[in-house]
Amino acid sequence: MKTIKDLGPLAGRRVLVRSDLNVPLDGTKITDDGRIRASLPTIRQLSDAGAKVIVMAHLGRPGGKVVESLSLGPVATRLGELLGRPVAFAADTVGPSAQAIVDAMADGDVAVLENLRFNPAETSKDDAVRGAFADQLAGLGDAFVSDGFGVVHRKQASVYDIATRLPSAVGQLVQTEVAALRKATTDPARPYAVVLGGSKVSDKLGVIANLLNQADRLLIGGGMAYTFLAAKGYDVGASLLEADQIPAVQGYMDKAAAEGVEILLPTDLVVSETFAPDAAHKVVRADSIPSNWMGVDIGPETAARFRQSILTAGTVVWNGPVGVFEFPAFANGTKAVAQAIVDSDAFSIVGGGDSAAAIRLLGFDESGFTHISTGGGASLEFLEGKTLPGVAVLED
Ligand code: 3PG
Repeated sequence: MKTIKDLGPLAGRRVLVRSDLNVPLDGTKITDDGRIRASLPTIRQLSDAGAKVIVMAHLGRPGGKVVESLSLGPVATRLGELLGRPVAFAADTVGPSAQAIVDAMADGDVAVLENLRFNPAETSKDDAVRGAFADQLAGLGDAFVSDGFGVVHRKQASVYDIATRLPSAVGQLVQTEVAALRKATTDPARPYAVVLGGSKVSDKLGVIANLLNQADRLLIGGGMAYTFLAAKGYDVGASLLEADQIPAVQGYMDKAAAEGVEILLPTDLVVSETFAPDAAHKVVRADSIPSNWMGVDIGPETAARFRQSILTAGTVVWNGPVGVFEFPAFANGTKAVAQAIVDSDAFSIVGGGDSAAAIRLLGFDESGFTHISTGGGASLEFLEGKTLPGVAVLED
C-alpha cells in the first residue's frame, strides 16, 4: 500500500483525507473523542508538510438527508481544539460552502466538510451514482489519503471510488490498524484467544466461522452468550436470545469440538430482574437463570476462568463487552477481561467501538493494550477474512 511519503512533496497541494469521526454524541456533546484523537497524527503530518488538508467524514446514518443533529460541526470544533489551530467547517460537502472554504485555504490549513452521508450518493449501491459524487469530491483536491479505518469495509464514494480518481495513499491510522490485524491473523503467537461479546450473535456468525479455523480459544460473553447457552439446552429466562441462530451456534460448537478449538462459555452469571442500573441482581449458575430474570454480566467464576485463559495466551483479540458495562453494577466482567489483558504479556488487540469505549470509560490506561482498533465492523470483517474495499483499492 502506498503511504503518504509516496505522494511526494505536499506543500501547497490540496489533500482530501477520509477520516472516521463517527463519535458518540449526547446532543452536541461528544462523549468519547477517541476517533478524533486517532485521526490527529495523519492530519498533523499533512498540515506540517504544508498541504491544505480537507477532512471528509460521516456521522451516524442520516440516510442521505440533512439531519441537523448529525452535523459534523461539533466534531470540527473538537478537532480544532485538539489540533490547537482553527479548523474551517464547510456547511456542505461539494457545494458552494465547501468550494469557497477550499479556495481560501492557505498551506497547512485544515478544513472539515459537512457529513458526507447527508448526500445519498455517498452510500449509493449504484456505481455510477457514487462515481459522480466521487468525481465532485475529487474536484476539491489533488490527492487522497484514506485514514478512516472504521469505514474501510464500506464501498462508499469517499472511501472507495475517490481512490480510483486521485493519487492515493493510506494514512497512519489505516496503516497501523491493518498491520496490527495482519499480525494477529497471520501466524499469531499461540495460543490465540479471542474474546467475543456484544449483544448479537447474528453480527458475529461470520467471524466465529472464520475463527474456528484460526483461533485456539473462543471466550464468549455478553448478550450473544445466551444463544450459546440456549444451544446447550439451558433455559435463559428473559436474557437476550436469538432463537433462530441456535442451529448455527450448535454447528459451531460441534465444529469447535472436532477441530480442538476450546469454546469457553459462562458457567455463572449476574442476572437482574429488570434492565436498569439499580435493578435487583444476583449471581447464579449459568444453567439456573430464574425465569423473568435476565443475564447482564458474566459471574465471578467465569471472570476468573476467562482471566486464566487470557493470561496464558500469546495473542488476544477482544471484540465486544461481556456485560452491560454502562451500568456500574454490571461492569465487573468487562473490567476483569480488560484487566487480564493489561496484566498479560500477549500481543493484544481491542476491536470495536464499544470495547474501546468501555476501556476508556472504565478508566483503563490505553497503553496496557498493544493496539486499540477504532473500527467495529471493519475489524470484525478483517477477522472474518473478508476483503475490505477501502483497503483493497489501495493495494499496489
Ligand atoms: C462505525 O461506527 O463503525 C463506522 O463509523 C462505520 O459506520 P457505519 O457502520 O454506519 O458504516
